[in-house]
Amino acid sequence: MVQPIRKAVFPVAGLGTRFLPATKVMPKEMLTIVDKPLIQYAVEEAMEAGIEEFVLVTGRGKHLMEDHFDHAYELEAILTERGKEAELEAVERVAPDPGKLSYTRQRRPLGLGHAVWCARQFIAGDPFAVVLPDDLIQAGPGCLKQMVAAYEEVGGNIVAVEDVPREQTDRYGILDVADDDGRLVRAKGLVEKPKPADAPSTLSIIGRYILQPEVFEHLDKHETGAGGEIQLTDAMAKTVGDIPFHGLRFEGRRFDCGTKLGFVAANVAFAAARDDLRGDIREVLREII
Ligand code: G1P
Repeated sequence: MVQPIRKAVFPVAGLGTRFLPATKVMPKEMLTIVDKPLIQYAVEEAMEAGIEEFVLVTGRGKHLMEDHFDHAYELEAILTERGKEAELEAVERVAPDPGKLSYTRQRRPLGLGHAVWCARQFIAGDPFAVVLPDDLIQAGPGCLKQMVAAYEEVGGNIVAVEDVPREQTDRYGILDVADDDGRLVRAKGLVEKPKPADAPSTLSIIGRYILQPEVFEHLDKHETGAGGEIQLTDAMAKTVGDIPFHGLRFEGRRFDCGTKLGFVAANVAFAAARDDLRGDIREVLREII
């Protein structure tokens, strides 16, 4: 029996420079896909996977996310008064239980590994999940829930993986594959953002992780890697050999909402999956293109 995953870390301190001017005052995680901000998709996916405690690792200018997950008394009062039940439900459904959502600031942009390290007190020796809201995954059941099922089979550290074109390996953490059964891939090593010629495979890490607390022993050292940043991939790589490490080829479609193309594509795909928009979105797209 593995220890269940009840805590999740959401690194949300990034500046979102690719989306300026939209992200001049608004955190990139508040960008909306149809009618919901990216951060809410991430939190809902975690809830579906059984996560009960949430920590957002934020930075300057990210307070809008705190407001988003808070009660909005005036708005709720007006919606109640006007009998807008569906809208009220959409607003109230947003948040984890009181006291179950925490925030800590990364303060300096030293890398993803550093962001996760900033949540160490909250993790307090438990296994945990990491969700990067930029990677939006359209799937049922959700990607993290699929990973929890895999974790119950094999334990250890698990990341979501996807094959990418070889020319893109320098954008991702890449697995050095030991065994591959088509669904679960056992890794014997990991490399952060290798050049296409040096990549040990084209199997890339997508922003979902289930990690054992031992990763903090390596993050504690603050060693820098690719791009001069403290990399989560490097800390995970150091656990290989001590702890099983698997990649899960999840079922579903991933959108890289850290890029404009991925973000627009996600909006179209999520709209096309909704009963209230499906028909019209097809027609509109046909007209435009
Ligand atoms: C981060 C990780 C990388 C992973 C990627 C997934 O990179 O460092 O290993 O493949 O997320 O989106 P970033 O996108 O922050 O550069």
